[in-house]
Amino acid sequence: MTARLQNKHLVLGVSGGIAAYKAVELLRLYTQAGASVRVIMTKNARWFVGPTTFEALSGRPVTVDLFEEGDETTIRHIDWAIEADAAIIAPATANIIGKLANGIADDALSTFLTAVISPKIVCPAMNTHMFESLPVQRNLETLRSDGCIVVEPDAGSLACGTVGPGRLPAPEDILDRTVAALTPKDLDGKRVLVTAGPTREYIDPVRFISNPSSGKMGHAIARAAEHRGASVTLVSGPVSLQPPLNVDVVLIETAEEMAKKVLDIAQEIDIIIKTSAVGDFRPRLAADQKIKKTGNGMTLELDPNVDILKELGRRKDGQVLVGFAAETEDLVANAAKKLKEKNLDVIAGNLIGAGDSGFEADTNKVTLFYKDGSSESLPLMEKDDVAHQLLDRVVRLIQ
Ligand SMILES: Cc1cc2nc3c(=O)[nH]c(=O)nc-3n(C[C@H](O)[C@H](O)[C@H](O)COP(=O)(O)O)c2cc1C
Repeated sequence: MTARLQNKHLVLGVSGGIAAYKAVELLRLYTQAGASVRVIMTKNARWFVGPTTFEALSGRPVTVDLFEEGDETTIRHIDWAIEADAAIIAPATANIIGKLANGIADDALSTFLTAVISPKIVCPAMNTHMFESLPVQRNLETLRSDGCIVVEPDAGSLACGTVGPGRLPAPEDILDRTVAALTPKDLDGKRVLVTAGPTREYIDPVRFISNPSSGKMGHAIARAAEHRGASVTLVSGPVSLQPPLNVDVVLIETAEEMAKKVLDIAQEIDIIIKTSAVGDFRPRLAADQKIKKTGNGMTLELDPNVDILKELGRRKDGQVLVGFAAETEDLVANAAKKLKEKNLDVIAGNLIGAGDSGFEADTNKVTLFYKDGSSESLPLMEKDDVAHQLLDRVVRLIQ
């Protein structure tokens, strides 16, 4: 996993709700991502999870009481508030939300929170009726207008037996929102379109021509662009990945569907990054019913699909256009040719075939080729890191 929170100091506030057990997993994810984490629990949270678990996982003492005895040569809640790059309250009870919204500081967690000036991420989790109650909604609105990040709870069946909003989101999603909160917003106000994954070109209703693109590179770019403040549309072929949060995801199957969606919105976009592996051909005739075995061979006639990237290059009107080239040979020549022919600003080329790079891998090794003929080889790295490296270059191009 990429150490996206390396050198970050987080304070995780845990209040007294059923979902407190999920904070244990969240803490583990934070430390895996490189953060150093301090935990402050409310006294009521101890009814749900003991401090020892958090102490073991964070490697630090947990604070519960504002007036604990110890080696206090400093005022802990103020020092921690100054040190924190972000404070996360997960789960946040109706009670702690009310206190934070109204400046009440009557225990260790609420006192600490009133002193924090870095981003505060509030993750409400409670019974649906409590969540939808007017005071809680009013307090959440106050927190939003005070600049807190409120992570909306998931809807579903809750521990109390009700069905509706109120469930603490998956720890992975809270981690993602934390990374987003700490990422500089150098794409603020920019509209980014990313395409990802394979297309399916149907032969009959149950058979198609496709390729092994996993969509991982495109999803990583969409996620990174959203973290950097862009408003992102991701047009994706069939993949088995969780869609990035806060991204407008459009699912398509065929190259024709992808072409339609992409060309429809391209003019409204500032940055287009095409990582999808679009089928170059489609069967001339797709059978309406499943084709039966006859014992004989079969000839499939293929028609060319629209070259979406080339069409985007032809229509380009001020956008930054980035393509990907997965090649099995002659990377430099093929990438340079594609860059020129398709009027691209950057092309990220990689040789496929190596297990740690290309289609299904979590890592990628790309060479970036630019319009002025220069190129830059990046080392093998996680696709999340490739995404940020690429966006760093794109940001320079739009400045
Ligand atoms: C079994 C049980 C489960 C609870 N679950 C929640 C919950 O999920 N969310 C919530 O806001 N309050 C929940 N409460 C109520 C809080 O524990 C209560 O409001 C308490 O005052 C919160 O204190 P704290 O915010 O200082 O932790 C629960 C109470 C009990 C007894």
